[in-house]
Amino acid sequence: MKVTVTTRSGRELIKGQLELNDSATVTDLQEAIHKRTKKYYPSRQRLTLPIKPGSKEKPTVLQSKKSLKEYTDGNIDQLTIVFKDLGPQVSYPILFFWEYLGPLLIYPIFYFFPVYQYLGFKGERVIHPVQTYALYYWCFHYFKRIMETFFVHRFSHATSPLSNVFRNCAYYWSFGAYIAYYVNHPLYTPVTDLQMKIGFGFGILCQVSNLYCHIILRNLRGDGSGGYQIPSGFLFNIVTCANYTTEIYQWLGFNIATQTVAGYVFLFVAAFIMTNWALAKHRRLKRLFDGKEGRPKYPRRWVILPPFL
Ligand SMILES: NC(=O)c1ccc[n+]([C@@H]2O[C@H](COP(=O)([O-])OP(=O)(O)OC[C@H]3O[C@@H](n4cnc5c(N)ncnc54)[C@H](OP(=O)(O)O)[C@@H]3O)[C@@H](O)[C@H]2O)c1
Repeated sequence: MKVTVTTRSGRELIKGQLELNDSATVTDLQEAIHKRTKKYYPSRQRLTLPIKPGSKEKPTVLQSKKSLKEYTDGNIDQLTIVFKDLGPQVSYPILFFWEYLGPLLIYPIFYFFPVYQYLGFKGERVIHPVQTYALYYWCFHYFKRIMETFFVHRFSHATSPLSNVFRNCAYYWSFGAYIAYYVNHPLYTPVTDLQMKIGFGFGILCQVSNLYCHIILRNLRGDGSGGYQIPSGFLFNIVTCANYTTEIYQWLGFNIATQTVAGYVFLFVAAFIMTNWALAKHRRLKRLFDGKEGRPKYPRRWVILPPFL
């Protein structure tokens, strides 16, 4: 099979054609492109079928595990493929590791080191019990997230654009510093003992539930297929994104116990992001499981925050 690889502007990416076996897969083609170009390793490549000029249709994206034959229109000798460079890529575990490492290391700096003295605050700093528990709670949260990244999540995409590392780190690292600054501040006023216990107690319950939700999601990909299934069991029986629900509520628990404007700002921003993602995930599951042609129908469920949404 002879494959012509063009860029989206119609220019030939590889001079001449690539010669591949008739049984070659999309992965084989990606490796052949990599061999010839050196720069474009497989996860950097997005391969599509050409579309008619002026057409508004979305191009068909080639799936790496599929055979190239499946994308030919009868003529298995010739195939034209359109190539797009997705830019430098980074694996998902590495992306998540860097974004979570920041808050895990930055927060304790404000607790353990004389940061406020350097910032001009005179006098002795008295550490309240709630500030110590907040440190444990915070570090447990981000440590758990790193552990989940490496040992629990089964991602469907191998990589993400490198630029996301900078964007996501900016988000997590700056919020980490912002909250740590106010919770550990020498002028911080603690909430009552009862409020602290309710907040942390509720938050820990939600963190453990969040871990359990992630284990349920992991088991949906037990066969290693990487596709999407209808999540069920525990809170997933009532809400599509129970993992986000428990994530939002665990931050609420932290904020009930620590009560800072910075913490609540983070809660609202995170809830806003997760709500948008949850709406998209809910829509995708409803589209995949539409009850037609033997496919199961997605059950009626809340999206993220019952009884509101
Ligand atoms: N504080 C914040 O701003 C914030 C924002 C977002 C997330 N988070 C936290 O980070 C965690 C991870 O978030 P995430 O958005 O990356 O992933 P996610 O949606 O929570 O999913 C975790 C893993 O389960 C997989 N999965 C999800 N739904 C599935 C289904 N129906 N069938 C099979 N597998 C499924 C995902 O696959 P894919 O790889 O295909 O997605 C992913 O690998 C969240 O649960 C939350 O605790 C925090």
